[in-house]
Order: sequence, then C-alpha cells, then structure tokens
Amino acid sequence: MAIADSSSYRDHRRVLPQHMAALTLLQGRLSVPTTDHLSWLDLACGRGQIILFLDENLSAEARSRIEYWGYDIHQESTRETARTAGQLGLARIESHVGDLANFNRVLPPNVQFDFITLTNTVHEILPARFALLLIDALKRLTTNGTLFIYDMERIAPPELGAVPWRRDDIRRIVLKVISELGVLNYRPEVPTWSHSSTTGWSVQIDRRYLETEPDQYEARLTAAVAATEQEISDVVRDRLCECRSALEALTTYGAETSEEEGDKERLLFEFWALERASRTTT
Ligand SMILES: C[S@@+](CC[C@H](N)C(=O)[O-])C[C@H]1O[C@@H](n2cnc3c(N)ncnc32)[C@H](O)[C@@H]1O
Repeated sequence: MAIADSSSYRDHRRVLPQHMAALTLLQGRLSVPTTDHLSWLDLACGRGQIILFLDENLSAEARSRIEYWGYDIHQESTRETARTAGQLGLARIESHVGDLANFNRVLPPNVQFDFITLTNTVHEILPARFALLLIDALKRLTTNGTLFIYDMERIAPPELGAVPWRRDDIRRIVLKVISELGVLNYRPEVPTWSHSSTTGWSVQIDRRYLETEPDQYEARLTAAVAATEQEISDVVRDRLCECRSALEALTTYGAETSEEEGDKERLLFEFWALERASRTTT
C-alpha cells in the first residue's frame, strides 16, 4: 500500500541529479560493445521523470536496445510513463501495476533485468517490507545486473508515514544482506549527496560480486530475508530511540536556534513514521 502523502514529480524543465546518476550508469552499460540489448526495470516509476529527457541523454541507436519495464502502484502513473516511453524508440515497453511488495509475483517469472532502479521511493515503503523488496530485486538481476537505489535523508515537505532512511541505516541494511550471502570482500559504497534543501544517498549493487556459488544465489538470498528483516527492525528501534531523545530535549529545553525550531516538525513526522513502522517490524 502507498502512503497518502506520496507524490510523483514530473518537470519538463530539469533532470534530477538522482536520475542523472542512474542514467550515467545506463549510458556506461550501453557503451559496452557486446550490449546488444539491455532490460531495465524501473520500480515505482512514478510519472516517468527518469525517462523524460532520454532522447537528449542517449542516442537513438542506444535507445533502440533498451527494454523498459515500468512498475508502480498507480495505473495513471504507469500509463503516463508508458506514453513517454512510447516516443523514445525503445526496443520494448512494458507497464505493470501493483504494490512493490508484490512486484516479484506480478512480473512474469524468469524475466531478469540488467538494470533495476528504485529512485526517490524508499521512504514510502513500509520498513517491514523493505527487506523482501531488496532481496527480490537482487534475485531479478541478470548475472551482470545492477541495482541502483537513491533516496533522501530528509523529505521536504515532510510526508505523513514516510521513513527517510539515512546513509548509515542503508549501509547497515545492505551490508547485512551481503554478509548473509557469505560474501566477504564486497562493500558497496553508500555516498551522500548534498542538494539545496536536503541530502540524498545512493547505493549501487552489482550481482557479479554477490555470487559466491551461482547455483546457490537464489536460495541464499531467500535465506537472508529473515536476518535482513531483523536488521531493519533494529535500525527502526535505534532511530526511534534517538528521535524520542531529541523530542524530549526539545520539550524540556525548547528550541534555541531556528534550525532546532525547524527540527521540531521534522522530528514529529519522523516519530510518527518510526512508531508506526515499529509496530509492523519484528
Ligand atoms: C516520489 S515518487 C518517485 C517516482 C520515480 N521513481 C522518480 O524518481 O521520479 C514515488 C513513487 O512510488 C510509488 N509507490 C509508493 N509506494 C508504492 C508501493 N507500495 N507500491 C508501488 N509503488 C509505490 C508512488 O506511486 C510514486 O509513483
């Protein structure tokens, strides 16, 4: 289920830096001489902002090798995205409607993707569902596939029920999945990116570094779900504790600076989202 405050952005005037980052990875993959086609699953595609300028970002020849799959809970969004995709000369366009929690069941089995994006959406996902989503996405990667996720540490304006994860939370969760797979030497970077009004984080996970034993890959991922769910639950508990202390301090001593004054509203929104999340995590 999507939160009611969810909003999908479409702006014909600018490319968002998070989309630019994803498209730069895509461009690199399409430039590999052996890439005769590339399947791209855009989870929570929204209104297609990421492909809005694709005719400027990539040559017609490169675009003609892309099979684009858009997936979102809102049919009007997938329709708008498909309409945009339809003008780009792509090899194939697929639109699927459903909850992210079910994407693996909604998409046809045995279809795998060279590139999976999940941008600006993790804060809208119920933390109890995030482990399975992450692991299902990793299962859907081709052996050379990449999962790219980008989101914000703070949502402005705040959205009721949204959990803005921090870089360190995401790093903890990703490293947990990787250690559960028995992979010792792969530690994907989770950088932060300063924007004018907030900070973003991103992570890129390449399947080729996750496969210790290829025939065990899916089974090991399935086995990693419970431990990852537990890690997410621990992160939520830690964050809730931190948020409660910060609110307690503001209640007792008041806000001294305009920054602390602004923090009040943010912390209240976060408290509600984390408290709600803590009721659904293990
Ligand atoms: C802020 S928009 C981001 C859209 C796009 N990825 C982008 O970067 O522009 C979040 C999207 O997530 C979708 N969404 C939120 N919760 C969802 C869920 N549980 N299942 C499927 N889609 C969901 C919303 O419909 C919305 O299109």
